[in-house]
Amino acid sequence: MPINEQVKLVKKEQLKNDTFKFTCKSDKISNEAKAGQFVEVKVSKTLDPILRRPISIYNIDKQNGTFEFIFQIRGRGTKLLSEFEENDLIDIVGPLGGGTFDFKKYKSIAIIGGGIGVFPLYELSKEAKETANVDIYLGFRNKDFVILEEEFKKVSNNLTITTDDGSYGKNGLAIDYLKQEIDLNKYDCIYACGPLPMLKGVKALAEEKNIPCQISLEEKMACGIGVCMGCSVKIATKDDTVKYTRVCKAGPVFDSRLIEI
Ligand SMILES: Cc1cc2nc3c(=O)[nH]c(=O)nc-3n(C[C@H](O)[C@H](O)[C@H](O)COP(=O)(O)OP(=O)(O)OC[C@H]3O[C@@H](n4cnc5c(N)ncnc54)[C@H](O)[C@@H]3O)c2cc1C
Ligand code: FES
Repeated sequence: MPINEQVKLVKKEQLKNDTFKFTCKSDKISNEAKAGQFVEVKVSKTLDPILRRPISIYNIDKQNGTFEFIFQIRGRGTKLLSEFEENDLIDIVGPLGGGTFDFKKYKSIAIIGGGIGVFPLYELSKEAKETANVDIYLGFRNKDFVILEEEFKKVSNNLTITTDDGSYGKNGLAIDYLKQEIDLNKYDCIYACGPLPMLKGVKALAEEKNIPCQISLEEKMACGIGVCMGCSVKIATKDDTVKYTRVCKAGPVFDSRLIEI
């Protein structure tokens, strides 16, 4: 059940020029939150802008009643959000999303992410590593975009970092390195979040190899609570019928075979 609360920003960290990590105190939201869910954040203290911005939950600490999210400044909303200071109250609705990462039955998993899509994968990796072998593949444009390497190292058995131009880590696309390991029949499930071309490639790869795959979509959203239909994506059907589902309600995490992207 989503909670609307004024949460205290207990820690603000600037990870890069345009990227911030916020640690927020809320016993209720932290207690309810699951890996793969997101929050809708009111980015200013006034009514402008009226629409909240969806941001994934990066880390949950149920013991201390805190949760963290990381965001990149993209436009006006995220710029305003970056201006909050420690001890400020932020109006947040969450946790949101009916489709979360389902990992408990798998023993050897691959996680692949790129760009801002790496953020929701941290909590998944952290929890899954308690019961499974976790290999992570993270792709970035170049070395200036590489983020959270040490953090992901701690929550994985193997971490592969790639850059499109080879300026850091391995040269090329993360999916190419995942493919090499898949050919050794290594994984019983794949999880992905990142840019659409990456998600399309991972979905196709998983279907070709017949491996279950869960992908998290960061579709543009307006209401975030299932009312406006602004986040609809096509459901995969076996005939010509066209059906849609809402990412904010049914997702953001989906079994890759159930949706068309
Ligand atoms: C479920 C979900 C989880 C998300 N998690 C995170 C996260 O953990 N960290 C993070 O930094 N961002 C995340 N995003 C994206 C984030 O919501 C947008 O970057 C933000 O809403 C942009 O708001 P703005 O006012 O700053 O920019 P706008 O002025 O609204 O847009 C600026 C630019 O960002 C692009 N943009 C807007 N929304 C999205 C989107 N959903 N995906 C990609 N590009 C977008 C626009 O096309 C435009 O080019 C998530 C989005 C969704 C739907
Ligand atoms: S954002 Fe409004 S229905 Fe999903």
